[in-house]
This record gives sequence, C-alpha cells and structure tokens, in this order.
Amino acid sequence: MSKQKSSLNEHWSSKWAFIFAAAGSAVGLGNIWKFPYITGDNGGGAFVLVYLACVLVIGLPLLIAEIYLGRLGQENPVDAIRNIIKIQHLKKFWVIIGWIALIGSFLILSYYCVIAGWTLDYTVKSVNGSFTQMTPLEIDNLFTSLLAHPIKLIGYYTLTIALTGLIISQGISKGIEKATYVLFPVMVLILIALVIYAMRSGSFLQGFNFMFHPNFAKLSGHSVLSAMGHAFFSLSLGLGALMMYGAYLPKKVSIGYTAVWIAAIDTAIALLAGLAIFPIVFAHHLEPSAGPGLIFKTLPLAFASLPYGHFFAALFFIMLVIAALTSTISLLEPLIAFMLKRSKLTRVKATIITCIAVWIVGLPSLFSFNVLANLKFLAGNFFENIDYLTANLMLPVNGLLLGLLATWGIQKAQTKAQLHLSPTIFTGWYNVLKFFTPICIVIVLISGIC
Ligand code: TRP
Repeated sequence: MSKQKSSLNEHWSSKWAFIFAAAGSAVGLGNIWKFPYITGDNGGGAFVLVYLACVLVIGLPLLIAEIYLGRLGQENPVDAIRNIIKIQHLKKFWVIIGWIALIGSFLILSYYCVIAGWTLDYTVKSVNGSFTQMTPLEIDNLFTSLLAHPIKLIGYYTLTIALTGLIISQGISKGIEKATYVLFPVMVLILIALVIYAMRSGSFLQGFNFMFHPNFAKLSGHSVLSAMGHAFFSLSLGLGALMMYGAYLPKKVSIGYTAVWIAAIDTAIALLAGLAIFPIVFAHHLEPSAGPGLIFKTLPLAFASLPYGHFFAALFFIMLVIAALTSTISLLEPLIAFMLKRSKLTRVKATIITCIAVWIVGLPSLFSFNVLANLKFLAGNFFENIDYLTANLMLPVNGLLLGLLATWGIQKAQTKAQLHLSPTIFTGWYNVLKFFTPICIVIVLISGIC
C-alpha cells in the first residue's frame, strides 16, 4: 500500500495539528447551535444519555475506521476508495461511499453556510450592543425580520463561503493548520468563560438537571434517530471530511489515540455548550424547546438583562462563527482535493469554482425562510428536507457502508498492521465495528423512519 501513487503533496506537521483540525471540524454549529436545541426539543437528560451511547458505540469505532480509510487510500474520498478497491481487489460497488461523501459534503456545506451567515449577523448585532436597548418583543422580532430579509442573508452567506474559501485556498499547512491553531483555542477559552458566567449569573442547577436527569417518557424512536444522526453530524462522520484529513496524516501517528481525543473534545464541548446555555434560559423562565431559534431568540433575550450581557453575547456569537468556520473548511477540503485530482486547475481556481457552485446550491435553503417559506414537502421546507436527508439519512447510511468496508471488505491483517492498537483493543474495536455498530445503525434507521 505504501507504494501507491498519491496526488497529495502535503501532510499535517504534527499529531496535534491533525487533532486540532479534526476537532475543529467536529466542533461546530452542531455542538453549539443544534445540540442544545435538539436536547431541548427531546426533553433533556434521556436524550443526552442516548446521544452519549451513540458516540461511544457507533461514533468512536467509525471515527477510527474513517480516518483509517483515508490514510490507507491517500486521496480525496472517491479516489481513496478507488485505491483501496484496487489494492484489496474489492467490488467496484464500494466506490459509492466516496460519491455519497462528496455529494453529502457539498449539500451540508451549502446549508451550513446559511446558518453560519445568521451567526455573522448576530455577531455584528451583539458587538454593537443592539440587544441591550431592546424590549423582549423587539428581540424576538429581530430573528424573524432577519430571516425575512433575503438580501442581507445573502450578504452574510456569501461572506461565510468567501472566508472558508480564503482559508482553503492557502492549502493544508498555511491554510487549515494555521487557521485552526489560532481559532480553536480562542473558541475553547470563550466557551469556558461562558460556562463560568452561566454558573454565576444563571440557574445553573436547573440547567444541569435538565441535561443530566433522564426522563425516558419523552423519548421516541424519532428521538433516538435524531440522537444517532446528530452523533454522526457532530463528529463529522460519514462524509469523508475525516477521511480527507486522515489522508494527510503521517503514517507514524496512532489513529486510535487521535480518534479518542477528537471524540472526547467534541462531546465535552457539546455538553459545555449546553451548560452555558440552559442555565441562562432557565434563569429567565424561557422555553428550552424553542427549536432552531433557541440561541437566536432566547439567548439574546436573556443576555439583554444579565450583567455584562452585551460583552458575553458578543463573545458567544464570535465563538459560534469560529466554530462554524473550522467546520466549513473541513467540508470544503474533500471537494477541492477531488477537483485538484481530476482537473488541471490550481488550488485557488478550484476553490473559487467550487465555492460558486456551493453558493448557488445553498440558495434554496436560504430562501426557505422567506421567499420559499410556503414550499413545503416531505419533512417541511427545503432547508428541513436537506437537513433530514443529509444528517439523518446520508450520514448514517454512508457511515454504515464505511464500517462494513473497513471490516467485511479490507483484509483484517492489513488493518491490524496499520492501526498499531494493542491486541485486546484491536479485537474489541474490530468486532464492535463488524457486528454491533451496523446492527445498531440499521435498527435505529428503520425505527426512526417508520
Ligand atoms: N461536525 C460539524 C458540527 O458539528 C459539522 C460538520 C463538519 C460535518 N464537517 C462535517 C458534518 C462532515 C458531517 C460531515 O457542526
């Protein structure tokens, strides 16, 4: 395998560069925007518990598998799987994993940048101190009126895609690595400051109980599917982002070790985000189940009347923008690597073309909240359908396929030699991934869809 040709000419400069970039990919709007609101929607504690179980028995084993496949294939997701098929003499069918990964990354990136655009608008608003002078009704209207303003939304949406493109156009070490080295620690520091603030100014105990006191009565098959879908989404699994980052991973770095770090950081940050948000929500007798508007309507309302609320609201939204950017770059990189392999374009040109394509495809999602608000089908508006299709279906299905390829496809001896895990851990990981993880995914998929 080591002699295969690869078009990749860059690698991470260290193990920690990879962990930062991968954790930066994992930690995103999923942790800070989505996790708290779906936890709120699904009743709190029981959902958190199911989520943690999904991370442990499905997420972590697959995380190792996905990084491994990337390092083995040494290419963008499609060509990495092609290389693996060739060398392991496998059926061509498996290449579907690479295509689902690329198409899925493209779709997620398109709607992810729409939300990231909202966070940019809220960053500007909070830095200006807009919330402090407003009545609760005005704050509530702020979100509604932002969504009803397509031109403004397009501006922030374009800015998000442009910033992502700017970082990616600089390549791995000068672009992704440099950006995550600066942005990631800043984000973590802000989050810690916010949790301390929530402890002092919010109803911390109530928030804590909501998140960690399980009430299974509120849990449905659909909640379990959401928890699993979210474990995939939050860990950036199933769409080749980690496969791509894994391809840039030097051979000597231990995949198991880095995967544990990535999963631990991602989970810790989701829980901390909940602990920063719910105490503030409860302190103001607001509803934790406010849905996607939770951090845009509910939080500014709470910050408006808290001591130093102006300052902390600004910090909160800056953190969100950073979290979003370190994730969007990981969604764009596989697409760029694919373009570079398949065309003679330079990195900069490939980035510009891909960003324009993403921009166009994301427009219907952006318009789902205004011009196309009445266009409802299947799971709701266009945005909700793309979210459901990608997060709840494409990610788990591709994750399932990835896991099957790593265990039922590739020879066990090859995997064992590449992973350098202790024999007991290897056997445990391998059997969980081979039998248990796929069964869990299939059961949850079936029960959630039916
Ligand atoms: N994990 C990110 C979040 O939680 C989103 C994300 C980035 C992602 N890259 C991905 C999701 C690849 C799925 C696949 O916000």
